[in-house]
Amino acid sequence: MRLTILGGGGFRVPLVYGALLGDRAEGRVTDVVLHDVDAARLSAVTRVLAEQAAGVPDAPAVTATTDLDEALRGADFVFSAIRVGGLEGRAADERVALAEGVLGQETVGAGGIAYGLRTVPVAVDIARRTARLAPDAWVINFTNPAGLVTEAMSRHLGDRVIGICDSPVGLGRRIARVLGADPDRAFIDYVGLNHLGWVRGLRVAGRDELPRLLADPALLGSFEEGRLFGPDWLRSLGAVPNEYLHYYYFNRETVRAYREAERTRGAFLRDQQARFYEEMRHPDTPALAAWDRTRAEREATYMAENREAAGAGEREADDLSGGYEKVALALMMAVARDERATLILNVRNRGTLSALDTDAVIEVPCLVDANGAHPVAVDPLPGHATGLVCAVKAVEREVLAAAGTGSRASAVRAFALHPLVDSVNVARRLVEGYTAVHPGLAYLR
Ligand code: G6P
Ligand code: MN
Repeated sequence: MRLTILGGGGFRVPLVYGALLGDRAEGRVTDVVLHDVDAARLSAVTRVLAEQAAGVPDAPAVTATTDLDEALRGADFVFSAIRVGGLEGRAADERVALAEGVLGQETVGAGGIAYGLRTVPVAVDIARRTARLAPDAWVINFTNPAGLVTEAMSRHLGDRVIGICDSPVGLGRRIARVLGADPDRAFIDYVGLNHLGWVRGLRVAGRDELPRLLADPALLGSFEEGRLFGPDWLRSLGAVPNEYLHYYYFNRETVRAYREAERTRGAFLRDQQARFYEEMRHPDTPALAAWDRTRAEREATYMAENREAAGAGEREADDLSGGYEKVALALMMAVARDERATLILNVRNRGTLSALDTDAVIEVPCLVDANGAHPVAVDPLPGHATGLVCAVKAVEREVLAAAGTGSRASAVRAFALHPLVDSVNVARRLVEGYTAVHPGLAYLR
């Protein structure tokens, strides 16, 4: 079985390869094709993978190419994990918004819109080529903003593209642990958009255990999201929001903290990873050790500013590193081997959320088998959540329109209609500011 990884020179690729190395079962991945636009990054990551594979019998063979069409041909699965504009682009997304006094963050608010405007045209090109060159491949989309990008790709690939994110799984596991439940036996009633969802229940043997958590201040104070949002607010909501909703519910505090920070998360990662790829220019650098050191540093500072500001404390390492590659592998195995699994994924709505049309990509528990991912029926969202979901989906649709037609007016509408952008004038200046710094936005007229 052949797995093609787009963004194959990316920093998280060794996590995926590490998970593949642990898979000894029938029908496992035998060939990995890395694609990247940057040959130096490809060679750095290829060296890390070679060291990971040392001594592992039958380790999946790795090849690398900068030719996208060559990478796609013959693929059974395509992981798309690209970062258009690189971490420099992310740092600019964050900086321009914060300079306007609105949230500058990778995927949420103005920063996320800029990222989406840059990424959608590239993702659509990948989707078109995949439909032509590997029509039977399944595409697993990690590329952020994952919900929006999955929806853009689904217009060309239908249900053969499935979006993933590690945050709902991590949240579900943390809640299950606090409740003393086995996360693998619990059903997490979670729904929304990517980075904009709520856990409304956690069922074990058919019983909802979440009310027990919401009623217990000590339990609420004992896990990350409990501390991040505070017991009172969680009880008021009657649900546990995805950590990214902190940017909505405590927007003013976050924006202030981010503006006061020495540098943004994107700028930190840009500098940190530049050091790794720089070190790797020397042929004698021990690749795996250099990668591992950089990874540990990254995890230790994961969203640290936000957490510290909110008193959420450190994230347990296991929650972060256990997510990304495991969800990807679980999804791939369920599809490839027809092993049924329930996973929270980004798929087309069909009729799941009645306030959205059938083609809107949402994040929802899905039953996965050889026929793909099928959203399960969930309880409707309460009004306040439906309101946010519809507002943000409307913004995403403006981004898709702008990317499809090059309409600057659509881009201005995307920013202006976002709940975290507080003036049309700010939206206009954001479009000016972003087009000035991102060559990838030159298509907007
Ligand atoms: C989580 C989210 C990803 C996001 C990442 C940012 O894993 O699910 O969508 O890209 O956090 O982490 P970083 O270390 O890049 O700030
Ligand atoms: Mn995510």
